[in-house]
Amino acid sequence: MAAILIRNIKTLWQTDEGERTVVKGKDMATIPCINNAWLWIDAGKIVDFGPMETMPELNITTIDATGKMVLPAYVDSHTHIVYAANRDEEFLMRLKGKTYEEIAAAGGGILNSAAKLGAMDVEELYENAFERLENLIALGTGTIEIKSGYGLNTAAEIKMLRVIRKLKENSRATIKSTFLGAHALPAEYKNNRKGYIDLIINDMLPKIADEGLADYCDVFCEQGYFTNEETETILSAAWKYHIKPKIHVNQFTNTGGIQTGIKNNAVSVDHLEYLGDAEIDALLQSNTLPVALPGCSFFIQIPYTPGRKIIDAGLPLVLASDYNPGSCPSGNMNFVIALACIQMKLTPEEAFNAATLNGAAALELSGSVGSIAKGKSAKIIITKPITTLTEIPYRFGENLIDRVLI
Ligand code: NIG
Ligand code: FE
Repeated sequence: MAAILIRNIKTLWQTDEGERTVVKGKDMATIPCINNAWLWIDAGKIVDFGPMETMPELNITTIDATGKMVLPAYVDSHTHIVYAANRDEEFLMRLKGKTYEEIAAAGGGILNSAAKLGAMDVEELYENAFERLENLIALGTGTIEIKSGYGLNTAAEIKMLRVIRKLKENSRATIKSTFLGAHALPAEYKNNRKGYIDLIINDMLPKIADEGLADYCDVFCEQGYFTNEETETILSAAWKYHIKPKIHVNQFTNTGGIQTGIKNNAVSVDHLEYLGDAEIDALLQSNTLPVALPGCSFFIQIPYTPGRKIIDAGLPLVLASDYNPGSCPSGNMNFVIALACIQMKLTPEEAFNAATLNGAAALELSGSVGSIAKGKSAKIIITKPITTLTEIPYRFGENLIDRVLI
């Protein structure tokens, strides 16, 4: 990216010296900012920024941002954007009264996606995912985590992870990859749970580690999917390869899985629609980050993660999209922020903190993305003319992004 100077920025949000890694509790209510600001980027990095009266004279391309705001691009720390096909037929079934869990129990859901993915070649999977990623970038996402988990056998899990590796190589977005072999029990292992866990541990993990294909290891720790004990077995096996956990937990029931994640030093525990005081206490004693996925609650009509309660307890909160073909076929972080405000009662400042700085922490990328700091990657959103940041969740459903520079 050539050198660019953005001038007359109405407000430049989330500025810092690069020292902040995560914001929690009451601190989430404020976002450092500079009114009437400039921002200089060069060679893909933020060089400097400040109030207009301090703008240096530079002979480079300038963008006039009069009336517009600039913020760091969103960090979406939880997605499943590599998939073969939509599941709109399941959406129709739900509109007619079936629940997400009933459809999954009848062989739909994750197993439906796995059957479709098995039949698609790497090139087509890659092209589809790349296009989804480009659409997400236009909506403001600059950094993203992508999971496997629609393979459910060694070859197909590796195929997914290689697609993610190719996306890492070719996309403008910064990407982290997560191995989610334990997403659902394949039908052929219905009466042999241990056989599938053994396959994950003794076949998938060593091969994935050998090719360096995964930054994290995930397990869907939930009733009807994988137990706490199985989760722990898989996470400990992954740790042996220095692959850290990030897990799906407490989406439909309070399984005690949050504690399992914490015990195994998970970087984050994601979903948390069912969360009690014991879980809040456990999180307070740990460095594990709670991640809420309100797009999923909206789409499959399950309770929202008690984000207000989490922040009021003094914890940090992360917001991510969970973009996937079953429970949330949208990765629009602007809408995620609107839902967090409207349904979870976060303030806009809390929601933007959760989707930028705290998202970076959930991907261990605090040093390079998530805020406007000298030396960090130049991944920024320039909004259309707006009067307050609040306008973004307030005018939900409208695209208030003028351009995204990555
Ligand atoms: O995060 N909960 C598990 N996995 C995904 C849904 C996957 C699917 O339905 O395809 C989620 O909601
Ligand atoms: Fe998910």
